[in-house]
Amino acid sequence: MKKQQKVLVVAGARPNFMKIAPLMRAFNKKRNKFNVKLVHTGQHYDYTMSESFFQDLGIPTPQIHLEVGSATHAGQTAKIMTAFEEVVIKEKPELLIVVGDVNSTMACSLVASKLGVKVAHVEAGLRSFDRDMPEEINRLVTDAISDYLFVSEPSGLENLKKEGVPKKKIHFAGNVMIDTLLHSKAKIQKSKVLKNLNLKPGTYGVLTLHRPSNVDSKKSLLEIFEILEWVSSKVRLVYAIHPRTKKMIEKFGLKKKFEQLDNIQVTAPLRYVDFLKLVSESKFMLTDSGGIQEETTILKVPCLTMRENTERPVTLTQGTNLLVGRNAREIKRQVNRVLAGKVKRGKTPRFWDGRAAERIVKVLESH
Ligand code: UD1
Repeated sequence: MKKQQKVLVVAGARPNFMKIAPLMRAFNKKRNKFNVKLVHTGQHYDYTMSESFFQDLGIPTPQIHLEVGSATHAGQTAKIMTAFEEVVIKEKPELLIVVGDVNSTMACSLVASKLGVKVAHVEAGLRSFDRDMPEEINRLVTDAISDYLFVSEPSGLENLKKEGVPKKKIHFAGNVMIDTLLHSKAKIQKSKVLKNLNLKPGTYGVLTLHRPSNVDSKKSLLEIFEILEWVSSKVRLVYAIHPRTKKMIEKFGLKKKFEQLDNIQVTAPLRYVDFLKLVSESKFMLTDSGGIQEETTILKVPCLTMRENTERPVTLTQGTNLLVGRNAREIKRQVNRVLAGKVKRGKTPRFWDGRAAERIVKVLESH
């Protein structure tokens, strides 16, 4: 009998957790073939940013926790690399699985590849073509050194091909984040978040903002406040504020100004099921997130993305997403359209069907 393959799966920050949940389930079904250990880098550490997701998504407790916490980019990346190197030397895995595009993704894939461990990148090939985004650097580096590149949408295939990645390394597996959304449907339905926040379905928009390009300067925050003032004069906004944005608002002395924005209901970061229930019952989403562009496409909720580009173009061509940047005129136009019921319905992209993680594990099994 062939021995079990030793695998490390890494997760570090909030958007990673929804992506590893279905992978852990799929590996568990094949536990005779794979011996999997989960590593949490501790990039995100607040209960609301991390542990609540493990509970809601039924992710097993990580066997290894690196507890790196927050730091500058180089500081955080270096801390993760140093701590993870010890883990790889001790555990001697044959394969590392990384997901998404956060600092933990890049740091751990660098460590593994230098120690001769094969790397599988889930959500490979996405490109915003904007190297001012830390995530774009993480994506480029991770893909360049990965041995298995699991792609979630057609643009990923094209980008990797153009970058000269050999075809045999690339696998169109679908979207693991959507695996989690579909798997959690019943729980999401049952969430009491609307009642708790005293909201009625279809009467509000949901807001999230955390990209450095939007929140790390006083000028851009002020531009955004002006836009929010107008939007919230038309419709109630529910804002689940990210710790980074909260910190920036305080740093620039804008707390008072922010609190004066009327008709914006601010909450702490929400639990996974609560957040998705809130979005699914909303009129529209206003965001700069990556993953939410995909989730709204499946929930059929119009998504106005406050960015100049997206690494997830299938959400524009097939989904409900529109790029609006910080262009006040365009945002007003699109909000007015949505409120008048003129919405983009979109269709479901290929392989966003709840079975991406199974496809990934199948490929790994056959290699
Ligand atoms: C990270 C990811 C980003 C992802 C986002 C989702 C990178 C480069 N960026 O950005 O791609 O969309 O997570 O949340 O990896 N903080 C807390 N508590 C926490 C975590 C963070 O208070 O649990 C605060 C800290 O002040 C920290 C700041 O948020 O300095 C930023 O956290 P960090 O993980 O560096 O990046 P994010 O902005 O969260």
